[in-house]
Amino acid sequence: MYIPCTAEEEILFKQISDAASDSGMPCYIVGGFVRDKILGRPTKDIDMVCVGSGIDLAHAVAKSLKPKPKVNYFKNFGTANFKYKNFEIEFVGARKESYTHNSRKPIVEEGTLEDDQIRRDFTINALAISLNNDDYGALVDPFGGTSDLNEKLIRTPTDPDVTFSDDPLRMMRCIRFATQLGFEILPETFEAITRNKERIKIISFERITDELNKILLAKKPSVGFDLLYTSGLLTEFFPLLTNLAGVEYVDGKGHKDNFYHTLQVVDNVADRSDNLWLRWAALLHDIGKPATKRFEKGHGWTFHGHDAVGERMTKKIFGKFKLPLNEKMKYVAKLVALHLRPISLTKADITDSAMRRLLFDAGDDLEDLMILCESDITSKNKNKVKRYLENFEAVRERLKEVEESDKIRNWQPPIDGQEIMDIFQLKPSREVGILKTAIREAILDGEISNTREAAYEYMLQKAKELGLEPKS
Ligand code: CTP
Repeated sequence: MYIPCTAEEEILFKQISDAASDSGMPCYIVGGFVRDKILGRPTKDIDMVCVGSGIDLAHAVAKSLKPKPKVNYFKNFGTANFKYKNFEIEFVGARKESYTHNSRKPIVEEGTLEDDQIRRDFTINALAISLNNDDYGALVDPFGGTSDLNEKLIRTPTDPDVTFSDDPLRMMRCIRFATQLGFEILPETFEAITRNKERIKIISFERITDELNKILLAKKPSVGFDLLYTSGLLTEFFPLLTNLAGVEYVDGKGHKDNFYHTLQVVDNVADRSDNLWLRWAALLHDIGKPATKRFEKGHGWTFHGHDAVGERMTKKIFGKFKLPLNEKMKYVAKLVALHLRPISLTKADITDSAMRRLLFDAGDDLEDLMILCESDITSKNKNKVKRYLENFEAVRERLKEVEESDKIRNWQPPIDGQEIMDIFQLKPSREVGILKTAIREAILDGEISNTREAAYEYMLQKAKELGLEPKS
């Protein structure tokens, strides 16, 4: 075998080879599995291509395995797949293919192995390993994929305009592979992305988001976002993000380029955490800046309220990108909303109540918020960075002290709405809300202690002002 395989893989490939030989169909391992084996990356998905019917071969192979896996097949596409042990194996017949201009649906014709390889996305994904008896284990590499792997180069096997126009998602994949693998994109290939960028419109947001998430999860996501931006692709599907780019000057005063600042923040978060959603929060933390940008005489550039505007935009962006509209979205929106709060706590004379409020608002996400804020320091001045980080360290200490004495994180006020309704025999109403909020605010402000007795007394006093008497 040209590629290193585990004993389990060797046995499986022998079984596939025997079934293919019995069916008289030449058969090859192809694509990402071969690429990742050569690169020494972990891989479980195996793509097989055969000269003949992929569906027939999948059935023939499945029949020879124990226990026999259940084959899923798609007649329209001529593909079949099954799960076996830890593997996901996909079978397809070699094809010549061309796509209609307005959809990703291909018109399929049978072809040779090389026809199939040339219509794949990149040379590094077009490598094949023979499972045929006469040259079992040999590499078939007509487009220089191994040399591109060695040179860390991404290039299309044929004219890049054809490759990208056939399937515009490949432009995203190109940049994603460059980011994940730390490869360069051949200039001709990159220029073709710029030429074909508008074709990304025919791709669904689910698939675009899949690729964006992979870029965000890379070691240095800024590489991918910079390529997306400079190719023009990013503006096609995410103009709200590229609106952050550029510097404006008034009276000789400029502001920082918020796009490149954002990319730096994303990288800083990536150095500190693997959490995809925290990385999304970094990407969106300043998204409200273009809409709130003003030049104020005497103050310079301001972005008042960009945190609250950003919070609202986050929800819309999650909808557009088909990201989950559940607690993940709430988490990202909350971090965007709160990202300035720890900075305001670094000033002198900060009261315990301000600390308590942040503990209450951030709850379990406080540590992630602090990671975001520390990552938000992108000054080139080393002394400044050091000073800011020390300030945050002091805030962390204070927060810890306040939390230890007040236990405010995940805290619920000592009297809840149900109890208020019982005591005053009220139906759910405005009054219940007023009393509930008053108790919570008084405790957070340190006006009363965090005890049931103090809350009860305070509630009676506030109720009286509303003309309410306890009934029990
Ligand atoms: N492929 C392609 N064009 C696409 C998607 C896939 O030509 N838009 C081909 C490539 O040869 C690729 C193979 O199909 O290697 C398998 O695709 P897929 O499993 O999506 O990707 P991998 O290359 O295996 O990589 P990853 O799992 O990281 O997405």
